[in-house]
Amino acid sequence: MEKKIKLKWLIGGLGLVIMVLGISLFLSWRQRDLPVEHDSKKAVDLPASKEAEEKHGKPVGEGAFFVEKGCFTCHEVSSLGVKSLTKAGPDLANAYVDVQSRFGKTLEEFFASPTGTMAIILSEQIKLTEAEKQEVIEKLKLAYQKKLKEENQVGAHDDGKD
Ligand code: HEC
Repeated sequence: MEKKIKLKWLIGGLGLVIMVLGISLFLSWRQRDLPVEHDSKKAVDLPASKEAEEKHGKPVGEGAFFVEKGCFTCHEVSSLGVKSLTKAGPDLANAYVDVQSRFGKTLEEFFASPTGTMAIILSEQIKLTEAEKQEVIEKLKLAYQKKLKEENQVGAHDDGKD
């Protein structure tokens, strides 16, 4: 008889402990959940390109075009902070001079009639409007200027005063 009562108390006590633990766990989970909810609301407000930027490191600003259009799948644009998933193509920070030396074309000519891999990509995968082509050309010139500036800054620092 006495044994049975003790068992009852033991089981009841254990149940209580588990309940208290469960409630406190639930409460702490809810508290931790609050700021997350707030963040996810912010993320919903962001445009798609910003989300893509966040996934691939730092915000790209002037390089956003290359992320939006999907160029970053294969190309980095180092001077604009665009990182590539695969680096299948060359760094577009050099394109302004590289296209001229490799294909004998200016950027304007290259996007009017692309050569090699980009001929296929620009006719099938990523179609650019005339306005977008102009935008790419301007962004690529800017990317090269920025790259030169960065290099000059490094150079000036190395040289010091003579
Ligand atoms: C599926 C991969 C892929 C995508 C996406 C892609 N490219 Fe390319 N791109 C390449 C490859 C590979 C080359 C090198 C082609 C060659 O040597 O013939 C290249 C070359 C280029 C070149 C010449 C660069 C140089 O230095 O000679 C330019 C400019 C260029 N791409 C621009 C773009 C732009 C702008 C976009 C987005 C609208 C884009 N590419 C999207 C793969 C890609």
